[in-house]
Amino acid sequence: MMIIKDEHYISEGLARKCYYHPDNNNLCVKIGKPDVEVLHLYKEINYFKKIKNKDTSRFDYQFYAEYHGEVETNLGTGFVYSLVKDETSQDISLTLRHYLEMKEAPFKDDIFVKALDRLKLQMIKHKVFVGDLRARNICCKILADNSLELIVVDGLGHRDFLPFADWFTFFAKKKVERRFLRSNMHSLSAQRDLIKRVRATGATII
Ligand SMILES: Nc1ncnc2c1ncn2[C@@H]1O[C@H](COP(=O)(O)OP(=O)(O)OP(=O)(O)O)[C@@H](O)[C@H]1O
Ligand SMILES: [Mg+2]
Repeated sequence: MMIIKDEHYISEGLARKCYYHPDNNNLCVKIGKPDVEVLHLYKEINYFKKIKNKDTSRFDYQFYAEYHGEVETNLGTGFVYSLVKDETSQDISLTLRHYLEMKEAPFKDDIFVKALDRLKLQMIKHKVFVGDLRARNICCKILADNSLELIVVDGLGHRDFLPFADWFTFFAKKKVERRFLRSNMHSLSAQRDLIKRVRATGATII
């Protein structure tokens, strides 16, 4: 059984806690919080099973953190993912939420706009959908040449009964664009406003 200790803790969302994999610092292990329904945790896992045969060599870049399966841990069932790290420092990449809240971010806004556009195009082209599109679920990976790649670390999947978007690019495009709009991810000012509103409610996980 894998033993996870407090020292492995990275961060958490509403549903899961995220830890370093104790034997491989390029991976993380996510554990469901006690009051979270198991079914909720498996929604994303089932979607990963569905998309596992995508030809990732056709991706412009790996735009979501890959899922590597389940593991039994001292804290319960763990779900293993690739850990997103900056090439420049090997630190865990900050999320888009971190950068959008910075007074003086190290990247200009148009860098984020372009990176978001690139991410959106990959989702459409490869028909990989993100239901829970939030700034805290997107890591900003800094590459060696100081450019940015946005990588989705949580919230993949969709609940369409008739998944036309899985089959036709026309519907995939409509679906992704609608999701960006509804999630206020179509403009940085809309996303910053949303983050401000959520922060003003006193929430700790933004
Ligand atoms: N693969 C990863 N690489 C780097 N950091 C990650 C990764 N996965 C998660 N994180 C960090 O851990 C945080 C919590 O993880 P995650 O989003 O999976 O939890 P969650 O409870 O499912 O979130 P939510 O509240 O959005 O449903 C993320 O916001 C991010 O900061
Ligand atoms: Mg999350």
